Amino acid sequence: MRLDKFVAHTSAHSRSDVRRLLRDKRVCVNGQPVRDAGLALTAADLVTLDGNALTLTGPRYFMLHKPAGVVSATEDSEHRTVLDLLQTEGREGLHVAGRLDIDTTGLVLITDDGQWSHRIKAPGRHEKRYRVQTARPIEADAVTRFAAGLSLRGEEDTPTRPARLEITGACEALVWLQEGRYHQVKRMFAAIGNHVDALHREAVAGIELDPALAPGAWRALTAEEIASGQLTDLPQ
Ligand code: URA
Repeated sequence: MRLDKFVAHTSAHSRSDVRRLLRDKRVCVNGQPVRDAGLALTAADLVTLDGNALTLTGPRYFMLHKPAGVVSATEDSEHRTVLDLLQTEGREGLHVAGRLDIDTTGLVLITDDGQWSHRIKAPGRHEKRYRVQTARPIEADAVTRFAAGLSLRGEEDTPTRPARLEITGACEALVWLQEGRYHQVKRMFAAIGNHVDALHREAVAGIELDPALAPGAWRALTAEEIASGQLTDLPQ
């Protein structure tokens, strides 16, 4: 594999970033800085970035700030997908750990670690925090109704798990969900006679959307963020 492709694949940098890393002599092959992006690597070569060995093995984890109008899918014939925004090498095998609606903005986690995303999505294991803007003022009793569990249209037999609601303005609130049903936040507000005008996901499983990421931007997760996603079960 070419050196620039290998570094991009293993370090979650774009190819243009990698060219800069090579120019800055931050990439070494077998201990020597290399500037030739097209150098053909063999299996025996040891590649380092800032002294840290890069290897092809190991799962990858990213956060992305999803803009409105982009779908949380790996492929779509009509719309841009979050994977189209993730300008990294080797996107095959990556999937979205918890989708957002096309008009919802905010934190999307992307990984090729199926067990990790399974834990992230499993009901009752993690909370997701959303910021909501509604069409009409939110009644104070919505807090207890969300906490008690709501009966959603079409799923009357299985009320929602207790959800925390904090009213932060007449038509604005924060919601913490322990599960991820189809259009859940919108359907919960519909169940109390309101309507969601705008929805933004701020955090999942203790992983906060990085405020430095503009809509459409992404970065690799830190080791702490990956570990936060691995913790299981919410305190009861
Ligand atoms: N709930 C919704 O209604 N939509 C989302 O995108 C996420 C949660």
